[in-house]
Amino acid sequence: MKPNALPPAEPHHHGGVLIVDFGTQYCQLIARRVREMGVYSRITVPDRVGTMLEAMQPAAIILSGGPRSVYEHDAPYLDPAILMRGVPVLGICYGLQWLTQALGGKVEPGVAGGEYGRTEMEVTEAGVLLDGVDPRTVVWMSHGDQVARLPEGFSVLASSEPCPIAAAADPARRIYGLQFHPEVTHSAQGERILRNFVLRIARCRDDWHPGNIVDEKVRRVRELVGDDGEVVMGLSGGVDSSVAAVLIHRAIGERLHCVFVDNGLLRKGEREGVEVLFRDEHRMDLHVVDARARFLDALRGVSEPEQKRKIIGKVFVDVFRDKAMALRDARSPGPRSLGPRFLGPRFLGQGTLYPDVIESVAAHGGATATIKSHHNVGGLPEDLDLVLVEPLRDLFKDEVRAIGRELGLPAALVERQPFPGPGLAVRCLGEITEERLGPLREADAIVREEIESRGLHVGLWQYFAVSLPVRAVGVMGDQRTYENVCAIRVVSSRDGMTADWELLPVEVLRKISNRIINEVRGLNRVCLDISSKPPATIEWE
Ligand code: XMP
Repeated sequence: MKPNALPPAEPHHHGGVLIVDFGTQYCQLIARRVREMGVYSRITVPDRVGTMLEAMQPAAIILSGGPRSVYEHDAPYLDPAILMRGVPVLGICYGLQWLTQALGGKVEPGVAGGEYGRTEMEVTEAGVLLDGVDPRTVVWMSHGDQVARLPEGFSVLASSEPCPIAAAADPARRIYGLQFHPEVTHSAQGERILRNFVLRIARCRDDWHPGNIVDEKVRRVRELVGDDGEVVMGLSGGVDSSVAAVLIHRAIGERLHCVFVDNGLLRKGEREGVEVLFRDEHRMDLHVVDARARFLDALRGVSEPEQKRKIIGKVFVDVFRDKAMALRDARSPGPRSLGPRFLGPRFLGQGTLYPDVIESVAAHGGATATIKSHHNVGGLPEDLDLVLVEPLRDLFKDEVRAIGRELGLPAALVERQPFPGPGLAVRCLGEITEERLGPLREADAIVREEIESRGLHVGLWQYFAVSLPVRAVGVMGDQRTYENVCAIRVVSSRDGMTADWELLPVEVLRKISNRIINEVRGLNRVCLDISSKPPATIEWE
């Protein structure tokens, strides 16, 4: 069972920046910095540069940093012909070293083993690249090797004490290089330098703004789906699937059929919220499948976390497939024996984002492309033979939020905290029963209410309640209670990969605790989770 290949082509957004990934951890950061200027950018691996140049026709190329030495025999290979195309090129760190070597200069190990961290750099000849940069400015260096001799035609623009060639240029060929990293915020004027390259030297088109992006995406969905194609998609109520659905809906209207699966593991008010927003306000064809019993039956007696996740993923696919087939058959012009031609959905909408599909160089594994393909509705019903429609495939999360706002989605949805696919199951430790999910849902709603009503959620990554499978003794009135323990988890994070626990003001904690113990039957004790990730994870299971 496999969904058909990806949509025919990625957008041919001419005039943007092609970023060649030599294995740096900062590639996505470079791409984002460029997009923040309103210029389209894409990342590719050295092997695919030729294809991408033809497809994308970029106005500029940025060569990233990387962990290797250019003189190692298995250093990432890139065809030097890209330097002959007349397209402006900026090499950063390893990128500078690569182009130095490719053009006949010399790279050597740096003095004292390299230069790492903040360094003061002196600008000796600003040119356009360093125009407006202070004569002495702080930059972020992270290199073992450095350029010992520049190729013919290049001149030095700036130096640091350990690195005499910190910036260089050959303006006639429009080839530039920086030994430091302008993309990280520690380089005080890095943004200005990148802007000089992208907007002034390469004169890239700065038309990558939410309004234009929406127009382009809508046009492309229409092109792909055609005049009579229909799309089915799973709508979870999360940011990505919601924005993707509204975008597709704008393109093809009632030919989009959204399926919302109520798995019984949702937070309080979630299903109703989705119904009101998408069916009533956005007038979408929304099909809510009540699969609560199916999920809870499948989960009965299961407490092992991985097993729970697997069951939930599998049941989701089964439920979604059943619904998609029913939609397809309902729209079929005749008996299925007539063959595969039918008028029902031929396309599957998904909210896949750019970080999930970026082709990147494995950090230390040379130029091996690792292409992750992440399916954010869990597994996919592949036997449905549907073609994927993924309008967010080249967007970062913050761009998706900006588009969501542009499409008129409410701030509460666009800014909402992540909620895992398996839902409350990963926060209801031990066996999942409706008797335990009910109190957890109430406690979670209290945590959210108390935090959000005070505006404390701004800057937090996630805040939620967890139900522990231990019972504690308490007293309510004159009655002894013997009920479950609830934990509160509040974390900050930049990307979910690492996280710090955050302490809410004491009066807020007191209010949350009082309300849970007094208002929620089934929970009689509240604890605070003060574990960071790593070594803990954000979710408890
Ligand atoms: P952990 O618990 O691994 O979570 O620290 C990191 C981030 O990922 C979210 N998460 C998930 N999101 N499906 C999702 O869509 C999942 O199965 C899943 N598990 C964890 C979690 O909420 C946190 O933001």
